[in-house]
Amino acid sequence: MRHLKPDPVPREDLEYILEAATMAPSAGNLQMWAFVVVTDAGQRKKLAAVYREVGRQYIRDGVLADPDTDDDRRRVYSKALHNVEHLDEAPAIIVACLTLQCPDDAAVASGVFGSIYPAIQNMLLAARARGLGSVLLTLATDQSPIAPVEHPAVRDILGLPDGVESVALIPVGYPEGAWGRPRRNPWQDCSHWERWGG
Ligand SMILES: Cc1cc2nc3c(=O)[nH]c(=O)nc-3n(C[C@H](O)[C@H](O)[C@H](O)COP(=O)(O)O)c2cc1C
Repeated sequence: MRHLKPDPVPREDLEYILEAATMAPSAGNLQMWAFVVVTDAGQRKKLAAVYREVGRQYIRDGVLADPDTDDDRRRVYSKALHNVEHLDEAPAIIVACLTLQCPDDAAVASGVFGSIYPAIQNMLLAARARGLGSVLLTLATDQSPIAPVEHPAVRDILGLPDGVESVALIPVGYPEGAWGRPRRNPWQDCSHWERWGG
């Protein structure tokens, strides 16, 4: 749900979402996560400005400006552009962070990243259970392939200490419009019984 109303979200719902996040599994139960909840209008504007800078560069001037971008990808990124331009309208933005430095070793890194995404998914589901919309954004975080130039980085806006890295920005708010079924390939196309091809 990318389109959100500006109406504030009750604190109790935000706490419910955070509790749901912390119920997620993590490698070795290390719980290497932290969450910064941003509701202050000034802080939201700063996060939105850095996301807009990086999002315009990557989505508007990159993917969507490329004549080779096919229609499916163009549809996905055209929708994503809404958050690039309107992130500050979300009444709350939860920033999910890793509290463990991500190593270069891909096998270990997958365990580290794989320990925060279940928590993020729990947040999306918990928000949905409370009638709240949300979306997972990773551009402009510490993991983004593009660093901002004009605006301070997310970590500086939030004052993250060394060893803590932002992974995702999750705007949360009441939905503008109706939820639809996600556009996905049929589950039958990626599922097998007993062995591959079965
Ligand atoms: C690891 C990951 C990173 C993502 N990063 C972004 C992002 O930076 N910006 C964005 O608009 N959407 C992002 N998304 C959301 C996807 O674009 C979205 O899930 C996909 O387009 C399908 O849309 P739907 O889930 O609403 O059906 C991300 C999703 C995942 C799993």
